Amino acid sequence: MANWWKEAVAYQIYPRSFKDSNGDGIGDLNGISEKLDYLKDLGIDLIWICPMYKSPNDDNGYDISDYQEIMAEFGSMADFDRLLEQVHARGMRLIIDLVVNHTSDEHPWFLESRSSRNNPKRGWYIWRDSKNGAEPNNWEGIFKGSAWEFDPQTQQYYLHLFTRRQPDLNWENHDVRRAVYDMMRWWLDKGIDGFRIDAIAHLKKEPLLDDVPNPDKLRYAPAMKSHLNYDGLLDYVDDMSRNVLQHYDIVTVGEMNGLYAENAEEWVGEHRGRLNMVFQFEHVRLWEPEAGLRPEPAALKRIFTAWQEALEGKGWNALYVENHDLTRITSRWGDTEHYWRESATCIAALYFLMQGTPFIYQGQEIGMTNTRFEGLEDFDDVSAKNMWREMAEQGKSEEEIIAFLTNTGRDNSRTPMQWNAWPNAGFSDAKPWFKVNANYEMINVASQQQDPDSVLNFYRALIQLRRQERTLIYGRYVLELEGHSQIYAYSRMLEGVEFVVLCNMSSKSARWSEAELSLDGARFVLGNYAPVEETYRLHAWEARVYKL
Ligand code: GLC
Ligand code: CA
Repeated sequence: MANWWKEAVAYQIYPRSFKDSNGDGIGDLNGISEKLDYLKDLGIDLIWICPMYKSPNDDNGYDISDYQEIMAEFGSMADFDRLLEQVHARGMRLIIDLVVNHTSDEHPWFLESRSSRNNPKRGWYIWRDSKNGAEPNNWEGIFKGSAWEFDPQTQQYYLHLFTRRQPDLNWENHDVRRAVYDMMRWWLDKGIDGFRIDAIAHLKKEPLLDDVPNPDKLRYAPAMKSHLNYDGLLDYVDDMSRNVLQHYDIVTVGEMNGLYAENAEEWVGEHRGRLNMVFQFEHVRLWEPEAGLRPEPAALKRIFTAWQEALEGKGWNALYVENHDLTRITSRWGDTEHYWRESATCIAALYFLMQGTPFIYQGQEIGMTNTRFEGLEDFDDVSAKNMWREMAEQGKSEEEIIAFLTNTGRDNSRTPMQWNAWPNAGFSDAKPWFKVNANYEMINVASQQQDPDSVLNFYRALIQLRRQERTLIYGRYVLELEGHSQIYAYSRMLEGVEFVVLCNMSSKSARWSEAELSLDGARFVLGNYAPVEETYRLHAWEARVYKL
């Protein structure tokens, strides 16, 4: 079924690092408003902003102390209302981050809950007695260390899957759900266009809170078994949908680690009325130790193709390769040393033209890269600091730790947006809250706007092409050249129209034969090397799109 959000191209904003409007070095809501014309001009239809709520910033806004207030550093509710109005005035839509697996430990709900064992809100969070003088069970937090924190006042532990300042809400409790639903309606009635639902995979916990057998501290998968996509989670989603989501014309995207293609339809199957899309994790391996390794093209083919096929005619994919929790994709999958522009644009073509709604993370459209860290003081992210501590305890050297965090750390994507070659990359008039990537004089919006061959203009061309061709939105995806070790190729087909997308995911040239995939009579419509020199040979990181 055709839908506005299927045709949309989305853009993710991390407010703290996007644009500072008032010279305090911190990005803010008015800064976003200033840049709406830039986004409109790029071709963006849908904006997702990461949390902008009141927060003590233990996890940069993902620890919310008031869901109905704006973080003072980001502006006021009046600024938010103006932003929303200006987004709508430009024919764009805005979704916000719904963070309800946990709150901040400064949220009034938690302050009440922790005040005494018989407070009416005690059951809003997950409190347990110690077991044999230790934590109630052996669960590890996703950001390292125990998932339990002892509260001396009431002599019990509370559960926190993320930092100790992010206590988990108890979703078994119906008052919790009612309060969350009221808050959601309040935002929806304001006119927002939907939610990205944070950490939805973790809402349901194994009911007995038993120990995880054989925990392996270096791997997340077993440790998360008791709360990652746990049996019964979909009942919560149905409840939320019945009570809130179904009553609005909105779009929803769940952050869904632990979901695999074979079960995707249960989550986003259209007739089920649950969520519209999920951000699946299979291709990014977020939170896993291997996250920094470059995947083989064969692995990408297997994962993307499984998702494309699983949802064909049944549901819809959210397409993404970057976000605020990941390193920069050109640094990760591409070759920033020899083929920065080519690999940034090749990866763009690869994911953008599959079936689904493409999301662009701020700075991805100009090929921003990972940054350089020299010591502990260069990291901001709470999960990086915890990881540092844990690796140091394991006897890893400072060099090893920095190397690991350089390849995996979330701070890479949180450096200020590079608008131009002026001081502070045009992000702010003051010293930014977080160090600007040293390459901003070379990689920035202003210079790429002038350059017809820039990464930015390649994204613009992709967006325009997708908008003009329904086949690139709704067409069926078919993997081509399946066994090729360098080239990822696929076609899209709809009502007799066919496109072929070819991407050489390597720093060497790559050939295929006409017998394997013929381009006879095909028309070249877009590419990152022009003109085409040899039909059946791609340069390093060359991407081409043909219409048949
Ligand atoms: C999600 C967010 C991440 C945050 C975590 C806890 O994974 O994307 O940034 O730290 O949830 O809220
Ligand atoms: Ca500011």
